[in-house]
Amino acid sequence: MTGNAATVLAGPPAATAVIAAAARQAATLERPPHLVIVRVGDDPASVSYVRGKAKKAGESGLRSTVHALPETTPSADLLALVASLNADPDVHGILVQLPLPPHIAEEPVLAAIDPDKDVDGLHPMNIGRLWSGRPTLAPCTPAGVMALLEHYGVPVAGRRAVIVGRSQLVGRPLAGLLLAADATVTVAHSRTRDLGAVTREADILVAAVGRAHLITPDMVKPAAVVIDVGINRVVGDDGKAHLTGDVHPDVAAVASALTPVPGGVGPMTVAQLMANTVQAARRQQS
Ligand code: GUN
Repeated sequence: MTGNAATVLAGPPAATAVIAAAARQAATLERPPHLVIVRVGDDPASVSYVRGKAKKAGESGLRSTVHALPETTPSADLLALVASLNADPDVHGILVQLPLPPHIAEEPVLAAIDPDKDVDGLHPMNIGRLWSGRPTLAPCTPAGVMALLEHYGVPVAGRRAVIVGRSQLVGRPLAGLLLAADATVTVAHSRTRDLGAVTREADILVAAVGRAHLITPDMVKPAAVVIDVGINRVVGDDGKAHLTGDVHPDVAAVASALTPVPGGVGPMTVAQLMANTVQAARRQQS
């Protein structure tokens, strides 16, 4: 390998700063912000994510309630719960953990959440606001990426940003946020021809596809800032399973800065959920 190793853009210090700011704002409110998380079924990853979110809420001076519903919950029951949470003035943020069981269509559930309580930023109204250049509540992972860039003083305005991946939760909303921040944005995906030619244009390259080590050093412009949103479970040479990103470790020799996996973007998602909940509560209590 040649070149200097990239600066490591560690998530935890940036996440701590985001949470500290949210906790300061929460403390100025009449009632601590109240986040309600709804989980349907027992998908192990979802159980663990939801537990982490509720724990972090408590540490951040927020109240949280988790509704764990059985896998067989009818769609109508879930919608009725969302309606009752919408109507409850003591609930400021509502998050329905995805994925939902196959018999429940996601879109009507997300659209049923009061847009002012939609701390996931997935309601069509909030997606529309984001794409009209006036983001309010934005999805937590892409908003967390923006907060990470800001924390480390990475300039965005006027720069070329390339996002690999066009998912509802990450790629698409991140494109909207980067555009609102005056970047010149390209979204690449599985049907993009000559992916390397596109990614080599990037001053800021974001990988969010879920394919281990898809981004290799030859695909990165020297001194680019590389953000790795991928979390892939792979079995290493030692025969043990471990987590790795969408970016090959050798990219560190080409990039000027790189987020690690784990410990990069991951902690920012939960931190941003706290920030979104406080933002929602401030608007509802003002
Ligand atoms: N499952 C994985 N990521 C997310 C997220 O950001 N929001 C929700 N609601 N579910 C998820």
